[in-house]
Amino acid sequence: MQNVTVVGLGKIGLTLAAQFANRGFFVRGVDINEAVVDSVNKGISPIVNEPGLSDLLEQTFKNNTLTATTNTVESVQQSEIVVVIVPILIKENNDTDYQFMDAAMESIGKGLKENTLVIIETTLSTGDTRNRLGKRLEEESGLKMGINFSLAYSPERVQSNRILSDLKSYPKIVGGIDDKSLNLAADFYEKALQCEVIKVSSLETAEFTKVAECVYRDVNIALANELAIYAEKKGVNMKEVRYAGNSEPLSNIHEPGIGVGGHCIPIYPYFFINRDLGKGIITLAREVNDNMSQYAIELIEKEIGSVSNQNVLILGLAFRGNVKEPTKSSTLLVIKALKEKGANIFVNDPLFTNEEIEKYGVTALPLDEIKNVDVVILQALHNEYKDLDFKNLKNAKVILDGRNVLNREKIEANGIKYRGIGVR
Ligand SMILES: NC(=O)c1ccc[n+]([C@@H]2O[C@H](COP(=O)([O-])OP(=O)(O)OC[C@H]3O[C@@H](n4cnc5c(N)ncnc54)[C@H](O)[C@@H]3O)[C@@H](O)[C@H]2O)c1
Repeated sequence: MQNVTVVGLGKIGLTLAAQFANRGFFVRGVDINEAVVDSVNKGISPIVNEPGLSDLLEQTFKNNTLTATTNTVESVQQSEIVVVIVPILIKENNDTDYQFMDAAMESIGKGLKENTLVIIETTLSTGDTRNRLGKRLEEESGLKMGINFSLAYSPERVQSNRILSDLKSYPKIVGGIDDKSLNLAADFYEKALQCEVIKVSSLETAEFTKVAECVYRDVNIALANELAIYAEKKGVNMKEVRYAGNSEPLSNIHEPGIGVGGHCIPIYPYFFINRDLGKGIITLAREVNDNMSQYAIELIEKEIGSVSNQNVLILGLAFRGNVKEPTKSSTLLVIKALKEKGANIFVNDPLFTNEEIEKYGVTALPLDEIKNVDVVILQALHNEYKDLDFKNLKNAKVILDGRNVLNREKIEANGIKYRGIGVR
C-alpha cells in the first residue's frame, strides 16, 4: 500500500484524502487546524453540506486508512506521494497572499526524502510551481527537483457541494517537471480517482489552464451582466434573450447576477492582473462584476426611493447556494453599499450561526422573524429559500432577485414588487 500525505484538509483536501483512502492508499492528512485534525481522527467530517463526504470518511475510519495530524514533516517523511491543497488568497489590495503555501512548502521541504512525488493542486500563477514552490522545496530539503524528487501540478477544478461527483466526471489535468513526474502523477490519479487524465506538456500549461478557465467564467459573467443592464434600460427581459439567443449552438450567454464570489472566480483573475496584465478585459470584468451589488441597490431605489433607514434583509451570506463559504461573497459588497446608504441590514443564512453572521456588522434574522422587513435581496439560493412563503413578508415592498430564480408570480400575488437582474 502506497503512503500518501494530503496537506490541507479543507473542503477539497479532506474530500481528496477520503477518496484516496478508499481507493487502496494509506493516507495521512495534515492540517494546521487542530479541531479539523481531531474531527477527522474521530471519523467525523468537519465540512458540512458536501454530499457523500461523511459516508466516505466513516468508511476510512472503519478501514483505518486515513489518519490526520498537524505534523507535516513527520507525515511527509513517511510518504511516497505528497498532494498539496492549501489556499493561496489575495490580500485587501489584491496582491497575492502566499502565506499558507509558503509555510506548507517549508514543512514539506524539511520532511522530503529522495524519490518522493510532490503534486501541487492549489490554483497558482503560471510559473509558481517551478519558480517558487519547487525552489522552496529544494532550499529546505537540499534535494533537486526532477533529479532527487518528482514534481507535478494538477489543478483542482471541482466545485464545493458536488466535489465527489465532479472528481468522477471531470478529467484531471496533469503537468510534470519531467516525463517521469508526469507519468507518476498521471498513474496515481488514474488509480486514486479513477477518472480520465489529460497529460499536458508542462507544469505551466497545467497551471495556466485552470486560471484561464476561471477568467473565462468571470469575463463571460461580466458580459452577461453588461447585457442585462442594457436589457433593463431597453425594457427587454434578459431571461428571454438568453433562452432565445442560446438556441444558436455557438452562443452561450451566461446568467447575469448580483455578483461573483467564492474562492476561485473573483480571485484568480488577479494572478494575471498582478503579472502585467492590468489593462483590458480581465480587469474590466472584475470591475463590472463587483459593481453589480451597487447596481442591485440602484434597482431597489428606483422602486421604493432611498434605502436609508429601511430594513433590508439579505438572503444568503454564502457566495453560492448550499455552500458554507463566505469568501468574497457578493453579500459582503452589498453590506458595504447598504451601510454607506444608512440602511438597517439583516442577513439570514441557515448554514451559518448568528455569531458567524454578526461578525460582518449586521443583524442575523431567522426566517420566522421577517415580517418587518421592507426589502429582500436574494444573493444565494439555499434550499430553504426555494419554497419561501412570501405571505410572511407582511411589510416588504420589493424583492430583488439577485439570481433570477424566484417565482415572480407568487411574489407579486402578495403585493410585493419583483426585480431581477435584467428582468423587470
Ligand atoms: N473551494 C473550492 O470550491 C475550490 C474549487 C477548486 C479549487 N480549489 C482550490 O483548493 C484550494 C483549497 O480550497 P478549500 O476550499 O479546500 O480551502 P479551505 O479553506 O476549505 O481549506 C484549506 C485548509 O488548509 C489548511 N491549511 C492552511 N495552511 C496550511 C498549512 N501550511 N499546512 C496544512 N494545512 C494548512 C487550513 O487550515 C484549511 O483547513 C483553493 O485555494 C483553490 O486553489 C478550491
